[in-house]
Amino acid sequence: MKMLIRGLTAAFIYTAALLRADDFPSIPHIDSQGAASRLIVDGRPFLILGGELRNSSSSSLDYMKPIWPRLARMRLNTVLTPVSWELIEPEEGKFDFKLVDGLIRDARANNLRLVFLWFGSWKNSMSCYAPAWVKTDQHRFPRCQKSDGAGIEILSPFNETNWKTDARAFAALMRHIRNVDKNHTVIMVQVENEIGMIPEARDHSAGANQAFAEPVPKELMDYLQAHKDTLIPEFREVWEKAGFKTSGTWEEVFGPGIGTEEIFTAWWFARYTDQVAASGKAVYPLPMYVNAALIRPNFQPGQYPSGGPLPHLLDVWRAGAPRIDFLSPDIYFPNFAEWCGKYHRSGNPLFIPEAIRDAANPFYAFGQCDAMGFSPFAIDDPPPAPGANVPSAQRPDFGRCYEVLSQLAPLILENQGKGTMAGVLLDETNQSQKIRLGGFTLKISHDYTWSGSRDPHPSPWPRFGGLIISMGPDEYLVAGSGLIVTFASNSTDDPIAGIASIDEGGFANGRWVAGRRLNGDEDHQGRHLRLVPGQFGIQLVKLYRYH
Ligand code: DGJ
Repeated sequence: MKMLIRGLTAAFIYTAALLRADDFPSIPHIDSQGAASRLIVDGRPFLILGGELRNSSSSSLDYMKPIWPRLARMRLNTVLTPVSWELIEPEEGKFDFKLVDGLIRDARANNLRLVFLWFGSWKNSMSCYAPAWVKTDQHRFPRCQKSDGAGIEILSPFNETNWKTDARAFAALMRHIRNVDKNHTVIMVQVENEIGMIPEARDHSAGANQAFAEPVPKELMDYLQAHKDTLIPEFREVWEKAGFKTSGTWEEVFGPGIGTEEIFTAWWFARYTDQVAASGKAVYPLPMYVNAALIRPNFQPGQYPSGGPLPHLLDVWRAGAPRIDFLSPDIYFPNFAEWCGKYHRSGNPLFIPEAIRDAANPFYAFGQCDAMGFSPFAIDDPPPAPGANVPSAQRPDFGRCYEVLSQLAPLILENQGKGTMAGVLLDETNQSQKIRLGGFTLKISHDYTWSGSRDPHPSPWPRFGGLIISMGPDEYLVAGSGLIVTFASNSTDDPIAGIASIDEGGFANGRWVAGRRLNGDEDHQGRHLRLVPGQFGIQLVKLYRYH
């Protein structure tokens, strides 16, 4: 067994000669502006207004036919769609890319870009998308085991044949994309899907047990020491509690317990995924990321997918998977802002590949966290029937929300990383927020806090969101829905802010086109700016100061 692990470690150290984005001058890639990372497509920054398809939709081009134009009408610019190992390599070594070609062609015909989700070794922890020839040969493609010895349908990350076979298929896919997709319809790739060990914190196969008893690999120890002062605080604390040891077994370095089993699991999943990503990047280096199933409150590793690309494991994933460009959260929980914050730190750009279809959230993600993109799951589900009992503010009216955001995209991209933008998310428990931006402080309140709000007030209150951009010394752009904004000047001489004017409007070909001048009842006779619930709007306000 020692031989197996040694061989495996050596194999992980080996990396193919990587091509870099520089070798493909116009390939989609990531660059930075200030503190923000931006996706560059066709030489220009690109904001992903996306949506992810349900898992099985894109396995049939016919099924997809009516869906593409609907997504384009909803003003998406990007569709996240699975490409599965079982469908591209139904027989070992024989690749079939008809489906991939059809997806690229049909997306392009509808002026949509694609992010491919590589459903390879793991999808939501399981290996259900591995081809049947992999699933049925457990001798050649070993599985994880539970502590009672029972097998599970999860390919073991401790096996070289497993990753090499996955990596070979992934490289074939990337090579094919490189050869056929000259227009860069495919702009990014997710490697695997919601990786994590379940229902226990770690694999208990013989290979895993052996690796768990061995010293923490030098690459991880070196990373920890080199980044000691900038590690994610909750992870650093674990290492600190165990005495900041610089070598030893997993339990010596991180202490005994399930948390250490999770760190160990994260490392091996990261190493495996890195090799898969490396083999793809070696032929076509598109940006690549991994996504995480988040932690339900009070769940332990193994109850949730242990060792996935979770925020407290960011450093382990970074050290183990340097070819992965960033880690992404799939946010289905109501504490959206909190999860955004946990991923938008330590230089990790925020991209949200899956989320509930709540139109308030992308405004927050773009305004507050310089998000690279937002993409609700099950975007191909039909919208609720007219008259269906959904409160106006909660209707998944992505059409209008994405229409507004696509008008704003150039401005958002221009302001990313400069500290000139902010985002808000408000609900019944978080009813208002103050934001100091430029020369003024804005108090942004949920529409239902205002006595004049006429929307029916269901309980709990719907979530409303928006973004604010400082356009100049006395000018702000406010976009979103369900917000009341009042202003105070930051000047001690003239602390009162007056509204000089408010225009609603939009952007056409990047130029502001004013619509109605909002005054009187629409701005409460000069007292506030209001974005009416359920109608996504853009308003430009000019202020003045007095005392
Ligand atoms: C998260 C997964 O990543 C998706 O593929 C899908 O299974 C959703 N969960 C379903 O809610």
